[in-house]
Amino acid sequence: MLYGADYNPDQWPEEVWDEDVRLMQEAGVNIVSLGIFAWSRIQPAEHVWDFAWLDAVIEKLHAGGIQVNLATATASPPPWVSANYPETLPADESGASYWPGSRQHFAPSSPTYRRLAGELVRRLAERYVHHPAVVMWHVGNEFGCHLWMDFSDSARDAYRIWLADRYEHIDALNAAWGTSFWSQRYGSFEEIFPPRLAPYSHNPSSMLDWRRFTSDMLLECYLAERAILLEAGATQPITTNFMGPFKPADYAKWAPFMDVIADDCYPDPTSPTRVRDAAFQRDLVRSLKPGVPWLLWEQATDAVNWRPSNPGKRPGALMAETAQSIGRGADGIMFFQWRQSRAGSEKFHSAMLPHAGTDTSTWRAVTELGARLKALGDLPAPGRDARVALVFDWEAWWAVEERDHPVQIDYLAVMLEWYGALHARGIQVDIVAPERVDDGYDLALAPVLYLLRDEGAAALIRFVEGGGTLLAGPFTDLVDGHDQFRAGGFVTQLRALLGIRYEDFGALGGTSAGGMGVGAMSLKAVLAQVDTARFAVGGVDAAGSLLAEVVHPAGAQVESRFETGPSAGSPALTRHRHGAGEAWYIATVPDAAGADAVVGALVAAADVHPIVEGLPTGVEVARRGDLVTLINHGDDTVSIPVSGTDAETGAALEHLTLASQEVAFVRVPVAADRLDANAAASISVS
Ligand code: GLA
Repeated sequence: MLYGADYNPDQWPEEVWDEDVRLMQEAGVNIVSLGIFAWSRIQPAEHVWDFAWLDAVIEKLHAGGIQVNLATATASPPPWVSANYPETLPADESGASYWPGSRQHFAPSSPTYRRLAGELVRRLAERYVHHPAVVMWHVGNEFGCHLWMDFSDSARDAYRIWLADRYEHIDALNAAWGTSFWSQRYGSFEEIFPPRLAPYSHNPSSMLDWRRFTSDMLLECYLAERAILLEAGATQPITTNFMGPFKPADYAKWAPFMDVIADDCYPDPTSPTRVRDAAFQRDLVRSLKPGVPWLLWEQATDAVNWRPSNPGKRPGALMAETAQSIGRGADGIMFFQWRQSRAGSEKFHSAMLPHAGTDTSTWRAVTELGARLKALGDLPAPGRDARVALVFDWEAWWAVEERDHPVQIDYLAVMLEWYGALHARGIQVDIVAPERVDDGYDLALAPVLYLLRDEGAAALIRFVEGGGTLLAGPFTDLVDGHDQFRAGGFVTQLRALLGIRYEDFGALGGTSAGGMGVGAMSLKAVLAQVDTARFAVGGVDAAGSLLAEVVHPAGAQVESRFETGPSAGSPALTRHRHGAGEAWYIATVPDAAGADAVVGALVAAADVHPIVEGLPTGVEVARRGDLVTLINHGDDTVSIPVSGTDAETGAALEHLTLASQEVAFVRVPVAADRLDANAAASISVS
């Protein structure tokens, strides 16, 4: 279990470094991410290099038994880069430059930025690649975090090349983008600009490619640095830090190039859905690399500085949040940052070592956590523990949130609502692209899959024909990979599977609001509904919002009909046997009660069980192999009968008492052949 933080010794005089190492040892720290923002210290001018301080820090850490995740330091170019090479600066939608003075002020597609960053990485790699303290490489930092899109001239030039590579001939692009509409036909790739400020909506097919390009440019920066590290002989794992469901970067496409997935997660202490949202994020990143533990690369010990108001965590929440990561597959627990800054924008951000020193509750929590993690020892790798797949797809997300649609759907908000219904029942979920839905799952939910690629449709069809249970809809299977309607109406790929005919969207008034909240890492998402369409499922009166689609059964059985709204009388929920499985369709976005009732019906139909049956409300459960993690998020102390061993002490357990925020890691006897099967862990709960 890795334990540590970002370490920025370049913010401090040398006298502090020995104390840092001593206190790291005291806290149980065994790794630090070093030098993430140290470019200007390493290379104070174009032809001036200073590695002496870094040599000294690495030696001290090594002598103290602290491993190093060495950063390539390319996330914040020094002032001389921006001053001497203004072409490295990114631009906003109107083409106006972003200026230096903060961080991430680089155009990802700028050849000059890449050349200068590459030189820095080459020198770092050549110097430290064989250093025994360096056990990992940290490329850049949170690619795209502040700058979701760059509209600079560098981007323009790179976009034209990217498009020419993709389409080869301009006619192919014209067909893919449907440029006959509004006189948008291009004569050559040189006529294309980034989607800068325009009088009205940009072509949606072009926006989809623009988003792909934007994600690819960030990925190219990562890959260029990775290639330099490998060329220099790096044998350590190479990665960068993800931000969970971060819209600009298609992490499913990035994941194969990460030796290990690292993720930054900052649950909002004021959000009533913080537990659900963080669980979603952790399941998402675990699912990016099946079977491989991931690393929680940044969390806060207490308050952050970047929301409008920044209360600290409630007592015990740090352990509870950490346990959620471990239970959901993390083998590393790291913080931003080791020592609280004295200056700069983040001086109010908490750290492992607060400015107030070691006689603080934060320091006590940090040292206690270090000791508990050490006691946990080696953990089983997360396996195929989930029997349920939630279909999550970046391209579908991008396309569905384009403008000019019947309604504005907040993709993440809808995903979180469905995820929440599974999470509240203690059901383990993988979060995957449609192509990844296979017969390892019993149940798959594709709540909004507006854009459905041919391969994704084929996988879902195979899944159901092979015996799986699928829930789809609404606003699913409407467009192809170019955001164009397919020939033959709507729901063309899944029509036979679902046994329905789709007539109309049935847009309701109102809109979904909320979305990403403040910063990409906050998952504050709520549905602000105006009009609803009511329907009943399993005796529960539910409200649908946004859409009450008009669908007709064409083989499917109608489970529920809309009782109110413009589509009253038309099916709200259908169910269709197909092959050895069945496919359900829901024609609206249900409220929490509706989602819960539908999930109840689905898990019964698919014979899917919670990890542990009958847990008290507020107790979260997660499983990785034979390790079951229980976290009491409720206010009351709960009592749970268990049979297993305490993973920290090795003691046999018959009974657990968990006060609010308390956690337990329990190794349970699971027969080897059932570890990957749909077995509730053998914890008996009365
Ligand atoms: C991000 C960054 C860090 C720091 C933290 C603050 O995760 O990677 O450098 O700014 O946010 O929460």
